[in-house]
Amino acid sequence: MIRIRTILSSLACLAAASVAQAQSRAFDIDMRKPGAPVQSTMYGIFFEDINYAADGGLYAELVKNRSFEFPQALQGWKSFGRVEVRDDGPFGRCPHYVRLSDPGHPAKQTGLENEGFLGIGAEEGRSCSFSVWARVPDGDEACVRVELVSPASMSSSQTIAADSLVFKGASWAKYTLKLTPLETDPKAVLRIYLDGSRNAVDLEHVSLIPDDAVDGIYRRDLEQALADLHPGIFRFPGGCIVEGTEEADRYQWKNTVGIPENRPVNLNKWQYSTTGRFYPDYYQSYGLGFYEYFRLSEIIGAEPLPILNCGLVCQFQNETTEEQIPVDHLDAYIQDVLDLIEFANGPVSSEWGALRAEMGHPEPFGLKYVGIGNEQWGEIYPERLKPFVEAVRKAYPDIRIVGSAGPFPHGEEFDYLWPEMAKLGADLVDEHYYRSAEWFLSQGTRYDGYDRKGPKVFAGEYACHIDDRKWNQFQAALMEAALMTGLERNADIVHMATYAPLFAHVEGWQWRPDLIWFDNLRSFRTTSWYVQHLYGTYRGRNVLTLREGGRPVAGLEGQDGLFASAVMDGDRIYVKVVNTSDKAQDVTLNFKGLRKHASVKADGRIDLACADLQDENTLDEPEKIVPVRSGFEGDGPVFHATAAASSFSVFLFVTER
Ligand code: AHR
Repeated sequence: MIRIRTILSSLACLAAASVAQAQSRAFDIDMRKPGAPVQSTMYGIFFEDINYAADGGLYAELVKNRSFEFPQALQGWKSFGRVEVRDDGPFGRCPHYVRLSDPGHPAKQTGLENEGFLGIGAEEGRSCSFSVWARVPDGDEACVRVELVSPASMSSSQTIAADSLVFKGASWAKYTLKLTPLETDPKAVLRIYLDGSRNAVDLEHVSLIPDDAVDGIYRRDLEQALADLHPGIFRFPGGCIVEGTEEADRYQWKNTVGIPENRPVNLNKWQYSTTGRFYPDYYQSYGLGFYEYFRLSEIIGAEPLPILNCGLVCQFQNETTEEQIPVDHLDAYIQDVLDLIEFANGPVSSEWGALRAEMGHPEPFGLKYVGIGNEQWGEIYPERLKPFVEAVRKAYPDIRIVGSAGPFPHGEEFDYLWPEMAKLGADLVDEHYYRSAEWFLSQGTRYDGYDRKGPKVFAGEYACHIDDRKWNQFQAALMEAALMTGLERNADIVHMATYAPLFAHVEGWQWRPDLIWFDNLRSFRTTSWYVQHLYGTYRGRNVLTLREGGRPVAGLEGQDGLFASAVMDGDRIYVKVVNTSDKAQDVTLNFKGLRKHASVKADGRIDLACADLQDENTLDEPEKIVPVRSGFEGDGPVFHATAAASSFSVFLFVTER
């Protein structure tokens, strides 16, 4: 459910923020003709498996190292009795499995316990599906007990859910059962042990997924938080993860498709990339792979935007060209891009289209965009990008290509790359800005002067980082809302924008701030999420020009800390006003150029405000700061309103003929 309160439920923050003395500003809204279209892709989602966003997060699988494929085969597992890891299993790319054998005495036990991702979230009454591939090597039958165990339970038994499975025969087969916890424990463990059996059993690909997972894949509350953003674009799988630290651990989409049992595990570079936050158990199971990303795009109604490796590993971690993939070794990389387009869009008679169909989606996914390269810089990037562009243009002239402007939003590399991207004919250029509040305030007019004839802008990673703490305080969200008025006013050139990163586990993060935080059972939406939500919900279809004192708002943006933009969607008009100052400001909104007999009525307002800029939503107070809908009524064409100090307001209007 979307959290927009009504005026009656809570106005505490807003009221406190409104008491300071008002100043007055007057904006004219030009109704003579709609301005540039706002692309459906304008506001979207950046997804990367950082902060346990995929395994342990959006991917609903609760078992870590389920196929015993981590370099230390029993990482995440505790074993007892006689447990042996073997490597001639039924899935060629994931060959490991375990054999549980008779412990040698009837009073002893043989088994395993899985710790999950920072624990297993078990919730009273919420059933989970357990599955395992198993066989009885001597061909007979054997029984195992499967339990969810709560180490912290104060009741007589630690076991909070249990059932048994009987395996028969020497051939590998998949066995399933349901576990429904009798108690809630965010840090339960999964225990599997031989139940009085003298016969050994082999176990492979042990899985436990809550039955309420969307499509059996996506953790429900986290998926809902994405859908509620009304995203137009879904970028995946990152981020630096696309590049890898070394060539071998770059993201290779072909390893992420086909049956999950046969997707090889990859290192996650966020295991060690953040100083002081080291997570030795952080790997990518690829249970969320490219098929699942395409499906998710479809479910949440966003265009998919895969980003692929351009033949460069992370340039921060590999400073010399010698560490990079030589230009004459790019064929396989280029083929990966072409094959991906075939996987997404190709007929079922094609090699990769056939795999898509086999996975359950014979209809094409309708891929329109591919990004090639993440945060790349220097001549080594355009020289690699060129053959990719040529090959994609030749095979798929309609696919739009996203290039990169490097990791920073200014400077030598940025200034070098933009013209290079234009020369190569990139359709969009990906800009990244993780910057201070001061920087965000200075960028309201960032895109006003951009070349209208060159590539379009994809603000592909951005977030306001306040001081060293880099936290999700309300102030950061306010700065983002202010800058976004400039994205919106420049919708003719800015075609996509995605806040980053998206998810973070409260106990397993490497990077902050983030849009959505979670633990094993709960999640909350930050105030930055609410900003994205308001922009996504009130995106509009066309920009409307705002003027102040006869001049377009562009040149005056940010005076007195006030930022504004306006859009229309049919007969609806949405005016966004961001007051970043500590004073309430009176705003006059004057609709000019309305057609003869046309009228305009106010239809309410939505405010996201808080007097304390350092305040935030948390797991314990997830709705402390949420948008508040209130009455704002009357007939136009002139309307007066007050923008509270430190507030983001969306004023809603409807035109009538
Ligand atoms: O969003 C986190 C990281 O920030 C991304 O992986 C990378 O592209 C950027 O440096």
